[in-house]
Amino acid sequence: MVGSGFSFIGRVLVLLQLLIRIHAWGKEGHHATCKIAEGLLSEDAAAAVKVLLPKYANGDLASVCSWPDEIKHNYHWRWSGPLHYVDTPDFRCNYEYCRDCHDTAGRKDRCVTGAIYNYTMQLMTYKGSASEQKYNLTEALLFLSHFLGDVHQPLHVGFLGDEGGNTITVRWYRRKTNLHHVWDNMIIESAMKTFYNSDLEVMIQAIQRNITEDWSSDISLWENCSSASRACPDPYASESIRLACKYAYRNATPGITLSDDYFLSRLPVVERRLAQGGVRLAGTLNRIFSTKPLTLISAA
Ligand SMILES: *[C@@H]1O[C@H](CO)[C@@H](O)[C@H](O)[C@H]1NC(C)=O
Ligand SMILES: *[C@@H]1O[C@H](CO)[C@@H](O)[C@H](O)[C@H]1NC(C)=O
Ligand SMILES: *[C@@H]1O[C@H](CO)[C@@H](O)[C@H](O)[C@H]1NC(C)=O
Ligand SMILES: *[C@@H]1O[C@H](CO)[C@@H](O)[C@H](O)[C@H]1NC(C)=O
Repeated sequence: MVGSGFSFIGRVLVLLQLLIRIHAWGKEGHHATCKIAEGLLSEDAAAAVKVLLPKYANGDLASVCSWPDEIKHNYHWRWSGPLHYVDTPDFRCNYEYCRDCHDTAGRKDRCVTGAIYNYTMQLMTYKGSASEQKYNLTEALLFLSHFLGDVHQPLHVGFLGDEGGNTITVRWYRRKTNLHHVWDNMIIESAMKTFYNSDLEVMIQAIQRNITEDWSSDISLWENCSSASRACPDPYASESIRLACKYAYRNATPGITLSDDYFLSRLPVVERRLAQGGVRLAGTLNRIFSTKPLTLISAA
């Protein structure tokens, strides 16, 4: 009796999981960027993150990096929806903060780069404990960690008219989906199945190996940020829209079936963006929580 009861609940949970999986840079992508970042935190930043994480995270930032996606359809949090992306005018393959960073009602700063500045500024007020703060710094940390991932997903900086590929219906092999979802989830999921034994940790380790080997000479360029705000999301958004034009939108016309050619040529772009998201999230948190003045950090 108890056994069959549990298996029923188990099946309902699996179903719910499947339903909940329709999200941005999917759960896997966010887990990967945050996991990569965790490995690169300074002592000061790691200590602050530990204080600010909610208890149920058990000290693991990666386990809660999808929180902003889980809440955004909830009435109370609906205002946060536009903070996950930024749109450029149709067919413009560049990004400009002043032109593009607003929501559909035209309210300035309500976009992913504006939110990164906002939550960085809030975290700069951290004084060593989570309580007695003007802002909820637990929320600020989770939003910042999530949005630094999103800004690296090329189609989170896409065209207004097609909502960053959301209205472009395509087939991913035999499954009907849309182009945005292909870049949030499908490429990563297919890569896990095809190359990484269906194990996200194995995929993350392969990306981490590249960070310390093939890409090690690029890391200081990726991390470069001498802005007084200690966050530099604008160049990341510029890169994303350029990659969206060059790789995501290219050959992805409505109704098309995308398969091996598209998958194998775009996967390296996705893996590099996950790496850059992780390295830059760590860099941003390290600058925010550094006890040294900014001039010394940027000279390092
Ligand atoms: C900044 O953060 C606060 C607290 O979460 C939020 O109410 C506000 O809408 C945010 N603004 C932007 C532009 O992200
Ligand atoms: C901060 O936000 C988290 C997540 O929304 C919430 O669980 C927690 O109670 C908040 N903390 C305070 C002090 O309001
Ligand atoms: C590692 O880097 C090489 C060279 O840039 C690239 O071809 C390969 O796809 C990368 N692999 C991963 C897992 O990032
Ligand atoms: C480093 O970033 C600053 C802005 O923070 C920019 O002005 C400068 O050109 C960048 N340097 C390199 C080498 O990319």
